Amino acid sequence: MASLTINGRQYELEVPDNMPLLWVIRDVVGMRGTKFGCGIAQCGACTVHIDGVATRSCVTPVSAVTGEVQTIEAMADDSVGKKVQQAWLDVGVAQCGYCQGGQIMNATGLLKNNPEPSTQEIIDAMAGNLCRCGTYNRILAAIERVAGKEVSS
Ligand code: FES
Ligand code: FES
Repeated sequence: MASLTINGRQYELEVPDNMPLLWVIRDVVGMRGTKFGCGIAQCGACTVHIDGVATRSCVTPVSAVTGEVQTIEAMADDSVGKKVQQAWLDVGVAQCGYCQGGQIMNATGLLKNNPEPSTQEIIDAMAGNLCRCGTYNRILAAIERVAGKEVSS
């Protein structure tokens, strides 16, 4: 049994303690915006926030979750998340889109902790989120836009 708050709603779920949070979000709760990429904390596609901290849900057992979970579905109503999503649109970041929910969640987590990151801080913070389409330069430009810097591409 797991008691979870996801995007402001409380859930009481009959799931095994060791079930990854990603499985719970996608297959039990039915929110499909959070993606499965590697399942071993190597790509970032599954990134969600737990109490505002970007977290890889594929390797987080549901029993270890004590804080409030936010997924990409909540970002349109999040003060920082909606700015990030608008910047993504303005810059035209997405290509296939598969990785982009995780990218946006990680970028939003960065900007909540550090609203004006340096270019190097952005690169370092985003380095673990992989994009097979190679949208890295546009991701950087979009984050710099939210941080109030010149768009670099
Ligand atoms: S699916 Fe979680 S890091 Fe790749
Ligand atoms: S946009 Fe295709 S994997 Fe990132």
